[in-house]
Amino acid sequence: MRTCSAALVLVILPASLSAQVRDLRAFYRERCATCHGADGSGRGLNGARLGGRNLADGRWLARQEEDALVASILKGRGAMPGFARQLTEGEARRLVVETLAPQAGRKKP
Ligand code: HEC
Repeated sequence: MRTCSAALVLVILPASLSAQVRDLRAFYRERCATCHGADGSGRGLNGARLGGRNLADGRWLARQEEDALVASILKGRGAMPGFARQLTEGEARRLVVETLAPQAGRKKP
């Protein structure tokens, strides 16, 4: 019986670990898309009103420092609130690298 439950733990553990990697695309849709648009273009529900900038502009994005964008997401910038309570620094970085950059069609160096 003991070996049986040990085997069960080995099966369940990897599944629960992968569930902890947060789906940041969903987070983006829920928390960022209202201002930045589903595609990052700034054409969100409130995009025009708040003047959320075009994050899908690959030429603009390519000129930005990743650290500065991460800091803006965590601390807020202009009309954008900070998300330090909802996101870790690593998650904010993943949002830039895995969600914003692909939207802008930015090639990885
Ligand atoms: C309330 C509307 C609003 C929400 C919600 C919002 N933003 Fe923004 N965001 C803005 C505005 C407005 C700017 C332009 C700020 C400026 O440069 O004055 C901006 C700028 C940015 C920038 C560029 C920062 C820079 O340093 O130039 C990034 C990256 C960004 N937002 C990502 C996000 C992400 C990721 C989320 C969700 C976690 C998010 N934003 C949620 C309104 C918003």
